[in-house]
Amino acid sequence: MLTKRLNNGIEIPVIGLGTYKIGRTDEETYRAVRMALDAGYRHIDTAPLYLNEKPVGRAIRESGIAREDIFVTTKLWGTEILSNRIQEAFDTSLLNMGLDYLDLYLVHWPVKGKLDFTWQAMEQIYQSGKAKSIGLSNHLVHHIEELLQKATVVPAVNQVELHPYLTQKELVDYCSRKGIVVESWRTLGSGKVHFLEEETLKEIGRKYDKTPAQVVLRWNLDRGLVVIARSSDFHRQKENLAIFDFQLTSEDLALIDMLNKDYRTGFHPDEITF
Ligand SMILES: NC(=O)c1ccc[n+]([C@@H]2O[C@H](COP(=O)([O-])OP(=O)(O)OC[C@H]3O[C@@H](n4cnc5c(N)ncnc54)[C@H](OP(=O)(O)O)[C@@H]3O)[C@@H](O)[C@H]2O)c1
Repeated sequence: MLTKRLNNGIEIPVIGLGTYKIGRTDEETYRAVRMALDAGYRHIDTAPLYLNEKPVGRAIRESGIAREDIFVTTKLWGTEILSNRIQEAFDTSLLNMGLDYLDLYLVHWPVKGKLDFTWQAMEQIYQSGKAKSIGLSNHLVHHIEELLQKATVVPAVNQVELHPYLTQKELVDYCSRKGIVVESWRTLGSGKVHFLEEETLKEIGRKYDKTPAQVVLRWNLDRGLVVIARSSDFHRQKENLAIFDFQLTSEDLALIDMLNKDYRTGFHPDEITF
């Protein structure tokens, strides 16, 4: 699997498996993650919010793949920040997953008034060596600007909603200048937004014999991003990995960029409350 180098030298596989609602039960989740690891995924994204760290961790542990060959991310939820339980939340995630360390630990959403406090605790976790990298999720430019004033560790990643209807150009450019890798979520629309039906994506796909989903995933990679995509289906899991044998032209990229509507399906990061 192709990787990208984070600002601390750690390599991150450019496609990760999303696990939000990947199964209705723990057993389904376990099977979907095992299937994905069999399909070739080496990067798994979860969060306490998804209530599946246990089956996700079990799938990783029982996969037969060496731990160091799988990049594992989980996240810190806002209520844990507000109740001053950041270290405990991290320890609980590790315990739930049955792992000794994480590859990446993210602040799931910014908590207003707590950015520095949160990041200091994240830095301590990073210094302990139990999270190989630390980063952000759903942080806007102004959140990152504020946090960087006191940070000693620059976040490795910012994982944000990003797809052809929300191209996030300003944020991507800003993060790139700061050496922060952007990861996309809701990359495929999650059934909530239907850009995969866009004729532009179908037409580009026909040129390369690729599906609209593969075109969108490739658009992310060709913009220098890491993508998190979810599928519970083995064939679609494989389809989403089969994007390394073609490349979009600058004209293709520009056409996809033009689909932007600044349309969010999730919370605005300044409006979420816990
Ligand atoms: N940081 C955050 O705040 C945040 C928020 C939301 C999500 N995330 C992360 O990002 C991940 C991805 O986002 P998401 O779960 O919202 O959904 P998504 O990956 O954008 O979309 C998943 C949906 O697309 C379908 N799909 C997958 N491959 C496809 C293909 N090749 N062609 C057509 N349809 C396809 C899946 O159906 P099948 O399963 O039937 O294939 C599923 O319904 C999450 O799972 C989570 O890990 C992070």
